[in-house]
Amino acid sequence: MNHAREKYWQMLEKAAHLMQTCRLSDLFTHDSQRVNKYSICVDKIYLDYSKNFLNDDILALLINLADSCDLSLAIKQLLSGACVNSTESKPALHAALRQDLDSSLQVNDVDILPLVKAQKEKMFHLVSQLHQGTYLGTTKSKITDVVNIGIGGSDLGPVMAVEALKEYRQTSIKLHFVSNIDPEMITSVLQECTPSSTLFILSSKSFTTPETLANAQVAKKWLEDKLSPTDINKHFIAVTANPEKAQTFGILPENILQFWDWVGGRYSIWSTIGLPLAISIGTSHFESFLLGARKMDEHFANAPLRQNMPVLLALIGIWYINFWQAKTLAVLPYSTRLRHFADYLQQLDMESNGKTPRVGTATGPIVWGQVGTNGQHAFFQLLHQGTHFIPVDFIAAKLSHTPFKDQHLHLLANCLAQARALMQGSEEKRELHEYMPGNKPSNMLLLEQLTPTALGQLLALYEHKVFVQGIIWGINSFDQPGVELGKKLAHTLIAGLESGAIDSKMDPSTQSLIEKIRA
Ligand code: F6P
Repeated sequence: MNHAREKYWQMLEKAAHLMQTCRLSDLFTHDSQRVNKYSICVDKIYLDYSKNFLNDDILALLINLADSCDLSLAIKQLLSGACVNSTESKPALHAALRQDLDSSLQVNDVDILPLVKAQKEKMFHLVSQLHQGTYLGTTKSKITDVVNIGIGGSDLGPVMAVEALKEYRQTSIKLHFVSNIDPEMITSVLQECTPSSTLFILSSKSFTTPETLANAQVAKKWLEDKLSPTDINKHFIAVTANPEKAQTFGILPENILQFWDWVGGRYSIWSTIGLPLAISIGTSHFESFLLGARKMDEHFANAPLRQNMPVLLALIGIWYINFWQAKTLAVLPYSTRLRHFADYLQQLDMESNGKTPRVGTATGPIVWGQVGTNGQHAFFQLLHQGTHFIPVDFIAAKLSHTPFKDQHLHLLANCLAQARALMQGSEEKRELHEYMPGNKPSNMLLLEQLTPTALGQLLALYEHKVFVQGIIWGINSFDQPGVELGKKLAHTLIAGLESGAIDSKMDPSTQSLIEKIRA
């Protein structure tokens, strides 16, 4: 740890110790301006972070800590295309995908924005053809069903965003998602589709992911069986950073939409990986989605750290993880449309920051969550009376897309009530089993409405939050070496399961399981 970082770290440890006896509700009593001071609005997103164990001194220390890690410089480096993914020697330029594409951004002496623009135009052209019914299958049928085959970043973003923006749907084309190698998943999707009118999107940055390739083979066979002897190639689009591999699979070059090595899988929804979303909401809403993210990028780039929403959210996380020993972060959107948000955020945060730094501090939290009010009837009991310290991010939208305004108000009332109950607890003197200590911190993210722009802002907010935390922990948020080991072992175990050939060095438990499965 550098000297300044160590100094602020120690001061924060002391501050945390002193704060242990503080009651969140008292902080409001002592400062009538607390909500104004500890809230911030960026365009259509309002963050109230007043229900946290924070005061001006602690915030100043957290900002000093960030400064001691050269955060401002790191933000500039990220956004300008410096090699921030040091272990893989590449930039992480997801923000470039939502930039004004008529400007310029040089990476290794190449202006990447014209490339981004060309691929986006190719994607938009395909979307128009699908919407107009001019993209035809091999038997001249219009496309009625699109199946995205992809996993991880090639699935979670599109699945989440298509559902989140269902109110903005511009097409009757049905979208399906197949991610798992479990054959039940593709089988049940294919049961809902007709070969002549189904288009498969093979989404894979590497085009080597076994799950995706296995499902792609099933899709190919299904089409060949039903449509032979016609040419099935029209039924496949590939979205990839490895076009050679896609061509080897048999994808027509004109059906390959590209993105690039400098876009991390979990940051790729803004690239052509967003094709399912663009099909669903149309090109104009997709542009609004990008614009929302761009607004957050501009804020992130320009706002001072103390008024910078992603930085504040990140520092509050650091405060709890490193100085209050929080192990998890609960993310609770009060919106059914955000029902896949926690899954998406799990990959974004845990694959990025689930790493051990050289200096032995705790890093990325276990991210989990569920929509409200459903979660209230499942695990909120533990939030209120359990023994773990669990900071919460609530997310809600002021306006509903439905005409049921009263019901939406009830939803919001529940969201506010839970945040309040977590903070206040129960003031009544009761039996021990009824004791509700309260004093549980939370952030409240309030969107105007769950629009494409607001969703873009929300995702960019969390992307930048994760980046800031990575900088403070001194880890590279853009690689994922830990995922590779399991992949390698699965490869050797496939041989074991198929042939029964067991490596004697394999652990007895795995050996015995292989035998059981083969028997
Ligand atoms: O799970 C590891 C991972 O490499 C993710 O980072 C990635 O999003 C996912 O696999 C899918 O990879 P690909 O898009 O190359 O198929």
